[in-house]
Amino acid sequence: MAKLQDVFNKLKEVKIEKLDKDIVSLGLVRDLAVEGNVVSFSLKVPLGEDPIALEKRTIEKIKELDWVEKVDIKVEKHRVETPKFGKEAEKPKGPQKIEGIKYIVVVASGKGGVGKSTVAANLALSLAQKGKKVGLFDGDIYGPSIPKMFGIEGLVPRVQDNKMVPVERFGIKLLSIGLMLEEDTPVIWRGPLVHKAYQQFFFDTLWGELDFLVVDFPPGTGDAQISALQLVKIDGAVIVTTPQDVALIDVKKATNMFVKMQVPVIGVVENMSYFKCPKCGEITRIFGQGGAEKLGKEMGLPLLGQIPIDPDIVQQGDVGMPAAAMGMEHPVAVEFMKIAEKVISAFE
Ligand SMILES: Nc1ncnc2c1ncn2[C@@H]1O[C@H](COP(=O)(O)OP(=O)(O)OP(=O)(O)O)[C@@H](O)[C@H]1O
Ligand SMILES: [Mg+2]
Repeated sequence: MAKLQDVFNKLKEVKIEKLDKDIVSLGLVRDLAVEGNVVSFSLKVPLGEDPIALEKRTIEKIKELDWVEKVDIKVEKHRVETPKFGKEAEKPKGPQKIEGIKYIVVVASGKGGVGKSTVAANLALSLAQKGKKVGLFDGDIYGPSIPKMFGIEGLVPRVQDNKMVPVERFGIKLLSIGLMLEEDTPVIWRGPLVHKAYQQFFFDTLWGELDFLVVDFPPGTGDAQISALQLVKIDGAVIVTTPQDVALIDVKKATNMFVKMQVPVIGVVENMSYFKCPKCGEITRIFGQGGAEKLGKEMGLPLLGQIPIDPDIVQQGDVGMPAAAMGMEHPVAVEFMKIAEKVISAFE
């Protein structure tokens, strides 16, 4: 037993740097056995990790125990199956529909901080105000913000029959990776683990019957996005941008990703389009003008709406009640309602 424990302790010293954990904690070691002076086990290699280098490191670590004569490792590549693209594709299963959900709409952007979460939250609310059954899924594994915007931080979703039950607020079913994490928990779900996380959030959740599931996507066009697009059939994408010319390059990138993955792009929301002086009503286009029109011409993308820079958006986000919940007198709520109508008419 002592030998087994010694080996175990040594294995715990083998770290996977990217995931900031050791191979034992990550559950990569299986069937560990010691017979005489021979150690054997199987080792799963996470995606993106060099199997030969990891095997070598592990053997060296165990050989630090002077009684060890032989280390017999059965190496299994890839901890999580992620379908590949191109020639070596192993024929992926293809994106699946989620039972009970009519349309899945992702809110995406080429770059961060342009107001995706703001648009996702307000679009979801406006769709609900139009009488639709709506879910909102915070798919931003790296920087979840939906719980704060809906004032549900710290609320842990119930589990029923091994499935997660979304939290309800303003008649919307909400689920966020942020609800599962303590505020300062480092997010270790990178790469292949993100794929697994998405799978659970999409398929092991009691969403019930929904007209729309709005997904707040992480910024950019990285692995997490591709993962989600491979797993679940997305019915449409709303792209958020700001008016600067440079932002347009990012919109093109995001659009190309969706086109490649055969997801229809419903249109573009231009956020922070202008500032209207509350005193004199004068409109200032702080970030320039004409960007959205250019997009229309160059890429054939419809403009779904233009959201002004409005301090209420920040304030409402901070108090846990998105601006669209402020009532129809508010210009921002009116604009989001128009966007919701356009999204609905893209489907019905
Ligand atoms: N139209 C607006 N007027 C004023 N403030 C806004 C507006 N849109 C967004 N903001 C503020 O800008 C910040 C970033 O917005 P948000 O979190 O929605 O962006 P994001 O694209 O989701 O960012 P990330 O890429 O980090 O997920 C927030 O503090 C939000 O309240
Ligand atoms: Mg966000």
